[in-house]
Amino acid sequence: MSEKTENLVEIRHLKEYFNINVGFFKTKPLKAVDDVSFTIKRGETLGLVGESGCGKTTVGRTILNLYKPTAGEIIYDGKPVKTKEDIKEFRKKATMVFQDPYSSLNPRMTVQDIIAEPLDIHKMYKTPEQRRERVLELMSYVGLNSEHASRYAHEFSGGQRQRIGIARSLAINPEFIVCDEPVSALDVSIQAQVINMFDELQEKLGLTYLFIAHDLLVVRHISDRIGVMYLGKLVELADAKEIYDHPQHPYSISLLSAVPVPDPKEARANKRIVLSGDIPSPLNAPSGCPFRTRCPRACDKCAETVPELREISPGHFAACHLL
Ligand SMILES: Nc1ncnc2c1ncn2[C@@H]1O[C@H](COP(=O)(O)OP(=O)(O)OP(=O)(O)O)[C@@H](O)[C@H]1O
Ligand code: SF4
Ligand SMILES: [Mg+2]
Repeated sequence: MSEKTENLVEIRHLKEYFNINVGFFKTKPLKAVDDVSFTIKRGETLGLVGESGCGKTTVGRTILNLYKPTAGEIIYDGKPVKTKEDIKEFRKKATMVFQDPYSSLNPRMTVQDIIAEPLDIHKMYKTPEQRRERVLELMSYVGLNSEHASRYAHEFSGGQRQRIGIARSLAINPEFIVCDEPVSALDVSIQAQVINMFDELQEKLGLTYLFIAHDLLVVRHISDRIGVMYLGKLVELADAKEIYDHPQHPYSISLLSAVPVPDPKEARANKRIVLSGDIPSPLNAPSGCPFRTRCPRACDKCAETVPELREISPGHFAACHLL
């Protein structure tokens, strides 16, 4: 154990710009992820939250090199992931669970073939018997039983399909999983079950997660730390409890004020802050602080200078000129 690095995943100044056509032969960079840095410790869950379009999925996909980074470094287990060889090795250890269990599974394949596909691709068995045993083991991890193996994905409910997708992701024996809103498409009544399953699998298999959600309530219990994104940038990062109890960035404060509080007395004291205006397009991001067009506390400096993500108390980072 002592040789293992404490940080399993480290990203430094990650940028992902998409070139968008804006006229005849004219393109403009859409800055989906703009200079994001963070680390994830071995065995840790980092929650990543923010409104639709702020760049959460792009962060996840770029870390896994499903998109080639425009700039920045991805360091996995102490080693940079750069060359084709590095990426190939990295793909054996890192994978993704997708948001939509309806479109991510081929309806014409049986459950066992869906789960075994990564095993087939990476040639991870010697005999058909070994393949079958491994598939049954993976199914048992996610609470599916052997009778489900020869049925088709379309015969299952959303929650069961998500379990099939998770079993498939586990097939390569990953260490690190990007969970991209894995419960958002599910009924609220089964979201908790699936979240608990992620928690148990982490414990059992020693997994490390980047857990993406736009709902703060979803990541609250599963995350050790939480990062808040706005318009391609990380604006706050701290321990989960700290960010709930003492959010510092004006954007995080407004996000949290929208989270329902069970106690009505507390809810009344905790006045909801409704942000005016929509999130700007990352094609036309404001100058200076990305949040300034909606920030109730914006001042002149906010239009001129981009606030750096700084450590404002031990382990608590925020990007705001006022802090
Ligand atoms: N392949 C792509 N080509 C061009 N633009 C893209 C691409 N993927 C994402 N974008 C743009 O990048 C920005 C960030 O998108 P992303 O999907 O990462 O956001 P998100 O935070 O995951 O949103 P959601 O909560 O809706 O899933 C958006 O403006 C989106 O339109
Ligand atoms: S830097 Fe200015 S605009 Fe940005 S969050 Fe802080 S106060 Fe608001
Ligand atoms: Mg997304």
